[in-house]
Amino acid sequence: MSTAASAFDATEISASARRLAGEHPADIIAEALRSFDRITTSFSGAEDIVLIDLAAREAEKLGRRFGVFTLDTGRLHPETLEYIERVRTHYDIAIEAYAPQADSVEALVREKGLFSFRVDGHQECCGIRKVEPLGRALANVDAYITGQRRDQSPGTRAEIPVVQLDPGFGRADNPLVKFNPLANWTSAQVWQHIMSYQVPYNPLHDQGFKSIGCAPCTRATHPGEHERAGRWWWEEATQKECGLHAINLED
Ligand code: ADX
Ligand code: SF4
Repeated sequence: MSTAASAFDATEISASARRLAGEHPADIIAEALRSFDRITTSFSGAEDIVLIDLAAREAEKLGRRFGVFTLDTGRLHPETLEYIERVRTHYDIAIEAYAPQADSVEALVREKGLFSFRVDGHQECCGIRKVEPLGRALANVDAYITGQRRDQSPGTRAEIPVVQLDPGFGRADNPLVKFNPLANWTSAQVWQHIMSYQVPYNPLHDQGFKSIGCAPCTRATHPGEHERAGRWWWEEATQKECGLHAINLED
């Protein structure tokens, strides 16, 4: 891969996606870190901790640091906030927390209350608390790494490649490259890594939470239920995307 993000075009990305498709997530992360100086890793405070664990190992081998950010929506579980802090100290890394614009949150709450998502859907609240801050988190990078996996959502994530251009947050003059190193891993592989390497994990997982987002929009799942059944459970099951990964909803 070239180090100049502006040199990327759709053809080069497709070729990289094919070449990296069968690689181990650690090798995909290493390639991402080697290819981009201005790259960051997203961390939701859930099982995507595997990204940080792998990036920490690969960055050490490469003799460089790696950036991490989280979107602190203001509605995360206290357990998740404590966990993010634990990760920060465990790995001795900086985690940049992006908060939503106060005036936007205040206007939404003034007009529709604190639980508008239960009445007219989660898109508006996610737009304010997640999508707008994500735009700021990505404003000064050429690439970022996510923890998306195909097995998370048969409806929206079944096709995600290990690397793609992000038309949602990219700029015409400076395309944004999105790495999804865990795309081919199953939940079982993620948890095998967490247990094998004694990676610290969010204690909510021990209470039946498989997928973890904001507190009012996440519930524990029953055995046999799909992991995203616990996210926005009052909404239509096949379109559970909050806008961070809007590309997944394109045809
Ligand atoms: S969501 O779109 O439904 O909210 P999900 O919880 O499945 O996303 O997480 C998938 C990936 O999106 C995570 O691995 C991470 O890369 C990114 N992501 C989700 N929530 C956050 C967050 N609060 N902060 C940073 N990244 C996030
Ligand atoms: Fe708002 Fe729920 Fe979206 Fe969090 S997940 S930003 S609380 S709608």
